[in-house]
Amino acid sequence: MSAKPCVCVIGGAGYIGSIVVEALLTADRRVCVYDNLSLGHRSAVPEDAIFVQGDHGDETLLKETLQKYNCSAVMHFSALSLVGESVEKPLLYYENNVAKGVALLRAVLAADVRYFIFSSTASVYGEPIQVRLSSPGCAISVPILEDASTFPTNPYGNTKLAFEWLLWDTAKVSNLRSISIRYFNAAGATERCGEAHNPETHLIPLVLQAAAGRRDAICVYGSDYPTPDGTCIRDYIHVQDLAEAHLLALKYLEGGGATDVFNLGNGKGFSVLEVIDVARRVTGKEVPVQMGARRAGDPAVLVASSDKIKKILGWQPRHPRLEDIISSAWQWHTAHPQGY
Ligand SMILES: NC(=O)c1ccc[n+]([C@@H]2O[C@H](COP(=O)([O-])OP(=O)(O)OC[C@H]3O[C@@H](n4cnc5c(N)ncnc54)[C@H](O)[C@@H]3O)[C@@H](O)[C@H]2O)c1
Repeated sequence: MSAKPCVCVIGGAGYIGSIVVEALLTADRRVCVYDNLSLGHRSAVPEDAIFVQGDHGDETLLKETLQKYNCSAVMHFSALSLVGESVEKPLLYYENNVAKGVALLRAVLAADVRYFIFSSTASVYGEPIQVRLSSPGCAISVPILEDASTFPTNPYGNTKLAFEWLLWDTAKVSNLRSISIRYFNAAGATERCGEAHNPETHLIPLVLQAAAGRRDAICVYGSDYPTPDGTCIRDYIHVQDLAEAHLLALKYLEGGGATDVFNLGNGKGFSVLEVIDVARRVTGKEVPVQMGARRAGDPAVLVASSDKIKKILGWQPRHPRLEDIISSAWQWHTAHPQGY
């Protein structure tokens, strides 16, 4: 009798991947993590998961791994994802996220994997052009829908969109069905796994570093945006809610669902100053702030609409409150001050 089918999580030693692995194991799935550990952490991979150290561009090793562990599904998290670095080193990003992505898909097809979940990004939309200014005091809302035009503003977004196209075109000529999930900022932690990027570029961990005294101050880029407090509004989603969406997407494909794209967002954006205020309350610490000029290319408001994923996959955010997102991240950072 062949072994129970396995879900291969590529990039499963990274921030989001490791938390999806936890959720898969909790759902009694057999899991194989495949990661080259260039950015991830071996200790983020639970003992109950199989671990294979490898590069997703190594077609032979990946194919052997998928076959050896009877993988019926792949979840793909192994992109390079720093916007600034992608501007400075576009070829590195095209190589890892697109060229090696072709090898990854070849291995997936050769191993006859049927279901593919791609952790994409809402950066594929670029700067929203449909900003709806509502009455004074109300938030500016940009609920970005899946059919909005895709015009990434940086190489990172371009490479993620290019991989979506690879998937889309591959699905037309193979048995592979896929879901791409587009979201903005993952945040928060579980008891075991949290965000440990180096360098760190995401707002919530940077604010928490300032609260912990490991950073002098947090710089706020621009306070004259057309938002209620003048600072940018962004969409933060608890990483456990993200994990849940990936599991629902897998079940959808396993139940016969078709290749599709879903946005994922909290339903509510939070300004930079709101994040800092909540972090002060949650940590009980001072967060020194330095006001700076706007950064080029930073839109005022970025919020994704989750209407489609709620309707079709039945997804609901369980941790939408900013307090809960930040306090889970704070607990993890307090317990792991040096990361993993
Ligand atoms: N973190 C966010 O807020 C966010 C937002 C939107 C989309 N995403 C997407 O989610 C995914 C995961 O993000 P993350 O924050 O967990 O990133 P991460 O850097 O923490 O994890 C990525 C993992 O992939 C591995 N990896 C990279 N290149 C590889 C390769 N060629 N072969 C094998 N392994 C490789 C790294 O070692 C790392 O463990 C990325 O694809 C990113 O584009 C993240």
